[in-house]
Amino acid sequence: NLYAVIPAGGSGTRLWPASRKGQPKFLLPLPGPRSMLQTTIDRLAPLLPYSNMYVVTGSAHAVAVARQLPELPEGNIVVEPAPRGTGPAIGLGAALIARREPDAVMGSFAADHYVAEPERFRAAVLAAVQAAEQGYLVTIGIKPTYPETGYGYIRCGRPLLERDGLVIHEVEEFKEKPDRQTAEAYLQSGRYLWNASMFVWRASTLLEAMRRLLPEVYQALEQIAGIWGEPGYEEKLAELWTQLPEITIDHGIMERAERVAVVPADFGWTDLGDWHSLGELLGASDGATIAVGCSVIAEDTESTLVYGSGRTVVTLGVRNLVIVDTEDVVLVCDRSRAQDVRRIVRRLEEEG
Ligand code: GDD
Ligand code: MG
Repeated sequence: NLYAVIPAGGSGTRLWPASRKGQPKFLLPLPGPRSMLQTTIDRLAPLLPYSNMYVVTGSAHAVAVARQLPELPEGNIVVEPAPRGTGPAIGLGAALIARREPDAVMGSFAADHYVAEPERFRAAVLAAVQAAEQGYLVTIGIKPTYPETGYGYIRCGRPLLERDGLVIHEVEEFKEKPDRQTAEAYLQSGRYLWNASMFVWRASTLLEAMRRLLPEVYQALEQIAGIWGEPGYEEKLAELWTQLPEITIDHGIMERAERVAVVPADFGWTDLGDWHSLGELLGASDGATIAVGCSVIAEDTESTLVYGSGRTVVTLGVRNLVIVDTEDVVLVCDRSRAQDVRRIVRRLEEEG
């Protein structure tokens, strides 16, 4: 029986003003019509029943998540009292799964990634399951195309096993978010893959790694899972949770663990981190004018992405733009400057 945990928290700033604190990227219909979270669930549905999928999210998003995912049993939407990073969030999912089936194999998948070829994604997951059954912490690796510093990097070691033409390798090094120089060296070496933030392991393997590497988190999770669903457990959860350190699964576990394996895979993975990459994905770089969430009347318009919220947008004599129309803010930005949107967000935050 396969299980899955989807950590859904935090808020990206580069897709502002569509993504905000109250409206994170995973709730948005990118590229649409279903949200990134919904698509993440849809992509897994052929592999496991909804009752085996857990979404771990913050209290601010719990209502929206439940509304978007009516197919999930209510108890499978797990609400964390405060964000503590992916370590505790994924750990909690694992602890709840272990209550049902300690040695069950589970996957953890980010809620906000785009996958062009879901069938190939599922083949990679099934290959990862094989290594997970042998006690490995398995990640899925993507061939890097530029020295991104916002990703984790994985150095591939000796081959371990093969399934469906996919070769699973031992991992020699896992480095989360290296600096620019290191990322460039990794890219040059040709030996590294990007961590896609997709992990497969036995719940018991992850919990054992947590017991050794993050003992405080492990102990809190044990206590929480022990009383889960009992009267008053929410108070105890809030009390234990707020004392936890903030730590990602990548820094807390993957960088430091033994017996890590990787499935190098190619299924059209995109983090979809900014407006430029969304435009690329939808074909705005080929001259087209792309509309998401609104209708666009375009004349003499080239390579432009319009993300709207219902209102009609009219463009005339422009090219290479991103236009984002939300209820209270309109962003008009050159496509080449999409990365800088987060600078604006920071400035606005500073200015209050
Ligand atoms: N519940 C919960 N609580 N979920 C969280 C929290 C939290 O405190 N923080 C993040 N998440 C969720 C996000 O919503 C997303 O679905 C997933 O966990 C990954 O978190 P990100 O914050 O987006 O991580 P990242 O993009 O900086 O880095 C990760 O993803 C990269 C690929 O996009 C790492 O795993 C990198 O190694 C990886 O390359
Ligand atoms: Mg991310």
